[in-house]
Amino acid sequence: MNAFKSLDRSYTNARKWDLERGPFEDDFLPFSIADSDYKSPKPIIDALKKRVEHGAFGYNYIDESYEKAVANWFSRRYHFTVQKGEFFPAPGVVAALYLAVKGLTRKQDKVVIQTPVYPRFFDVIHDNHRELIDNKLVNINGHYTMDFFGLEEAFKQGAKMFILCNPHNPVGRVWTKHEIEQVVNLCKKYKVTLVSDEIHADIILKGHEFTSLGHYLDDYDQLMVCTSPNKTFNIAGLHLSNIVIRNPKMREAIHHELRVSHNCTPNLFATLACQVAYTECDDWVDAQNHHIEQNFKRLYAFFKLHVPQMKITKAEGTYLAWLDMSFLKKDSIYITKKVMDYGITLSDGNKFDPDLKDFVRMNLACSKDQLEAGLERFLNFILDELQA
Ligand SMILES: Cc1ncc(COP(=O)(O)O)c(C=O)c1O
Repeated sequence: MNAFKSLDRSYTNARKWDLERGPFEDDFLPFSIADSDYKSPKPIIDALKKRVEHGAFGYNYIDESYEKAVANWFSRRYHFTVQKGEFFPAPGVVAALYLAVKGLTRKQDKVVIQTPVYPRFFDVIHDNHRELIDNKLVNINGHYTMDFFGLEEAFKQGAKMFILCNPHNPVGRVWTKHEIEQVVNLCKKYKVTLVSDEIHADIILKGHEFTSLGHYLDDYDQLMVCTSPNKTFNIAGLHLSNIVIRNPKMREAIHHELRVSHNCTPNLFATLACQVAYTECDDWVDAQNHHIEQNFKRLYAFFKLHVPQMKITKAEGTYLAWLDMSFLKKDSIYITKKVMDYGITLSDGNKFDPDLKDFVRMNLACSKDQLEAGLERFLNFILDELQA
């Protein structure tokens, strides 16, 4: 059975489907916001249904079975071990990044990120009145690497924190062990707190290996790892992350921020979904990786045939395709607005790096049918523009 069939999410309060649809009542296909357009795994749906049918939704707590499920997922899928107390839930990864910046740095401190990157990285720094240092990724013919020289310079300038996106949204890099070790060594040398956003950790394409910062908890004590089932299982609307910190002082600072900012135990449905995801859905995750891999192949083949000028970054992980549309000589603000007339949405690359104007991001976490229909519409837009 195909678990990745089309799912019309229109008018279900899905931001991706309802807030961006423009004039389209029906027949609209979004490829923007990073969630998936097929159902979550059946064990998760069944467990949530059962809980709903029980009918009581009072104050909850998390027990050992939840902790065991999370710790086992870390050791089974990411190959690092954690002890009880070293990890705890928070209401999502963006929330965890806010906690990190607030709890582990001070006003005006310098925080380093590497653009192009998920736009909320800018918000967590600006909203907390910290100084953003952008150590841009280096794009060599569509392959992105880190600028380690620039990173060291930023650290020499007194940066207090580095937020790493691992794997990296939007360029799809799964950082190698060698690259991760260089990051850890530099952070250690300059005593920079390292925060790793690992929300895309489970979506890894063939031939690539994910290296979690969880492996380095013993090597460096200024480390915070932010994991989440949100992207993998399409449960971002339930709001959950699991934060890993080995250093007790750092952990207490984050616990304090969590108490002050959220004052709650995590959502009942979120922790239930996570526990089931991490105990009953390994095969589904592997099948999803295969499905995403096939969608990337469809995308590459489609553009190779119809628009060979399109430069597509070769994804190693995530379900996000990063497209350089400089051949069109139209900026990405225009492109993302205009493709809506053809019944699709894309994400504007300019939001991931204000200096970029030629890039768009296309989300491939959808059925084969949705992707193929969307690509045809995208092509019609491109052909019309080329003829105009
Ligand atoms: C790198 C990255 N971090 C965090 C998030 C959002 O995390 P959450 O929904 O858990 O707050 C996203 C969503 O696209 C993302 O790509």
